[in-house]
Amino acid sequence: MYKYLKIKHSPKLKGEVTISGAKNAALPIIASSILAKNPINLTNVPEVADVKTLLKLLKYLGASYNLQNNNLQIDTSTINNTTAIYEIVKTMRASILVLGALLARFNHCKVSLPGGCAIGARPVDLHLKALKQMGAEIKIEGGYINASGKLKGADIIFDKVTVTGTENIVMAASLAKGKTRIINAAKEPEVVQLCEVLKDAGVEIDGIGSNEIIINGTDGELLEFNDIKIIADRIEAGTYLAAGAITNSEITIKNIIPEHLEGILVKFKEMGFSFEESENSLTIKPTNNINPVKIITTEYPGFPTDMQAQFMAIATQANGVSMIEERLFENRFMHVAELNRLGANISINGKTATIIGPTQLIGADVMATDLRASSALVLAGLVAKGETNVHRIYHLFRGYENFVEKFKKLGAEMEILDEPNP
Ligand code: UD1
Repeated sequence: MYKYLKIKHSPKLKGEVTISGAKNAALPIIASSILAKNPINLTNVPEVADVKTLLKLLKYLGASYNLQNNNLQIDTSTINNTTAIYEIVKTMRASILVLGALLARFNHCKVSLPGGCAIGARPVDLHLKALKQMGAEIKIEGGYINASGKLKGADIIFDKVTVTGTENIVMAASLAKGKTRIINAAKEPEVVQLCEVLKDAGVEIDGIGSNEIIINGTDGELLEFNDIKIIADRIEAGTYLAAGAITNSEITIKNIIPEHLEGILVKFKEMGFSFEESENSLTIKPTNNINPVKIITTEYPGFPTDMQAQFMAIATQANGVSMIEERLFENRFMHVAELNRLGANISINGKTATIIGPTQLIGADVMATDLRASSALVLAGLVAKGETNVHRIYHLFRGYENFVEKFKKLGAEMEILDEPNP
């Protein structure tokens, strides 16, 4: 049965929220367990739908795991199937992360092509081109990527910075024969953690965190992993700061890595918010005047596309005209029409959205279209007069752990309800 989320006007929040492990760090690291010769222990694993989907895929391939209280034990030594089927891949694009590791370990695999998604075409051509340069034979047949061949090191120059593309090639290169140089690599903290995990497991990796990563592969020898603690989710952290901002309330986020938030904090500060920082926590302070903002989404350490929708919600409450340019994904403005249903004044011209604020939002029925768009609608619902019902709320649970519980603890009034039968 489908669920929706009812949010009641909750103009003031207060309190502390503990940030979970990063979904986008957990996914590639769990995929990298395919390269392990030993069972692996991971902590701080967010128990969100996307992580469960990847585990379901690994189980389907023959691995076994146990996930409890954010601790994951995974054993991939029993994998005996190398086909990632459409039925699972279609529910999560990041399933493509098994491609590099499966190919590197088994010298062949078949992975369903992920389709388009709500935020754009999102092709995987760069992943495939790089694997071909490493000696793989790739054929697309019946909606599947058929990959085979023994991988060897190569110089890869990515035409565009791609996060999962970089991660796939880092994993593939770890077991390849010889040296791989990835030029124009992604520098996101999640890519960095994957590299550090693999380095700790015995792979020679240089240039971690820079745009040129050099990997000396083990020529097929499986890796010995140590215990891993998943880093904090910078997008979840940013979303709770955004909840503080839109309601102009004091909220403290705990268990975070403040330097991962710099690109986001700059924009909160431009909007007039101030912060109190201690080692692993950060408190957002209210402001007398929410300023409009200009944002361009870009690769890390710039402003993340995954925070764009949430800032658009805040901008509806700013005093003046804000502009947000989306440079990474061509169709990531699906939330605009929904925010406008709540009474926002947002127009789109090409890649740029113009938000005229402030507007008094009024509760309405709205539709979630993707993960981050869903959280933006919830944020808007907090300050909208009356009740806002966010439908297709399953998008939210793909990436936010205990979302409703955490918001309720901050004083937000919301509940999950069953959609009535048509
Ligand atoms: C990852 C994140 C996602 C985030 C995005 C950008 C995960 C699981 N997901 O997605 O939350 O929004 O980074 O920070 O970590 N591109 C191509 N060809 C390719 C690959 C990518 O043209 O083969 C394009 C994409 O369409 C997009 C751009 O490159 O325009 C960047 O996408 P990419 O960094 O690959 O995003 P994901 O890794 O899918």
